[in-house]
Amino acid sequence: MPQKVSLSRLKLTDFRNYASVSLSLDDRHVVLTGDNGAGKTNLMEAVSFLSPGRGLRRATYSDVTRVGATAGFSIFAELDGMDGEVEIGTGVDTTDDSASRRLRINGTPAKSADELTDHLRLLWLTPSMDGLFTGGSSERRRFLDRLVLSLDPAHGRRASDFERAMRSRNKLLDERRFDPAWLSGIEQQMASLGIAMAMARQEMLDLLARLIDDTHESSPFPAAALELAGFMDGQFSRPAVDLEDEYAAMLADSRYRDAAAGRTLEGPHRADLLVRHRQKQMEAARCSTGEQKALLVGLILAHARLVANLTGYAPVLLLDEIAAHLDEGRRAALFDLIDALGGQAFMTGTDRAMFSALGERAQFLTVADGKVFE
Ligand SMILES: Nc1ncnc2c1ncn2[C@@H]1O[C@H](COP(=O)(O)OP(=O)(O)OP(=O)(O)O)[C@@H](O)[C@H]1O
Ligand SMILES: [Mg+2]
Repeated sequence: MPQKVSLSRLKLTDFRNYASVSLSLDDRHVVLTGDNGAGKTNLMEAVSFLSPGRGLRRATYSDVTRVGATAGFSIFAELDGMDGEVEIGTGVDTTDDSASRRLRINGTPAKSADELTDHLRLLWLTPSMDGLFTGGSSERRRFLDRLVLSLDPAHGRRASDFERAMRSRNKLLDERRFDPAWLSGIEQQMASLGIAMAMARQEMLDLLARLIDDTHESSPFPAAALELAGFMDGQFSRPAVDLEDEYAAMLADSRYRDAAAGRTLEGPHRADLLVRHRQKQMEAARCSTGEQKALLVGLILAHARLVANLTGYAPVLLLDEIAAHLDEGRRAALFDLIDALGGQAFMTGTDRAMFSALGERAQFLTVADGKVFE
């Protein structure tokens, strides 16, 4: 059984519609109910800032800061984490133009937001992800990379270094500076980062596929078949050095074409995640709305289990409106599955009765107009 990571305190100041709120939590699941616009998703978003990045809405810091606040927002959390009890403080001072997110762990400024992953892993599922399978590939790539990140925190650095190298190549090509030595230096770097990125994605998908193989028969959710496409398809079982050479050669060959296109046409930044409904042998985009949702829920829960198995700690789950559109039996099965992961989950809904099957396994909080009540 993986160990539990749980939040025991959450304090928000000038975050979205919360001027100031302080929650005491025990280690059970947290159910947040309240009317539309009460602040349920905002609270989840605040928790999502305990992972690197810009949270589950990918919002700008000025959007997150409460309207009418004079200087930025702050979030403070206490948790029983992967490295014991820890206090995490984060926020942004929007009066400072260079406003980047500040982070303190046990009172000490953190060098990088990646340090958060030493203490907890977070996974989320929100209604805005409902169009994941039918929408554009960039959203799926982001989703895929978030899955990789929750297992391998170095993935974010690789991806941003790749982006930076690619931007400098694009700039040189744009300026028609076809200096072979300079370009091939950048392309070598892109090749080693890009292949490492693609292999990390493939490795995560292989692990996830194996776990789905082992568990799907007992799951009330459909099994997903996962495939990486759009860049060196099906090549990633070959040695990395060969793939790097191949990708570097591909880049060198496509300089004029890329210059004409104004961008780099081949690379891990063009990859896509293909998802199929296994039992139905149908691509996810062609499944019904409910089937797509069920696939996504199944995928997130399988990934949560994978993270728990590999790190020894269950990830904290943020499941926004997870119970909507599910019948009573499916809801109860879902709660059992979430509970069996052994971690703490935050769940929201407009109606408390929908969560009654959780019983004593959760603490129930009511959210109204930027305030939270027991
Ligand atoms: N920066 C901000 N300052 C003040 N209020 C904000 C800010 N950003 C968002 N809000 C408000 O916060 C309110 C609560 O939003 P939230 O998305 O958390 O609601 P919710 O409880 O999840 O509702 P629903 O059930 O409709 O999903 C909204 O009315 C929104 O306008
Ligand atoms: Mg909401």
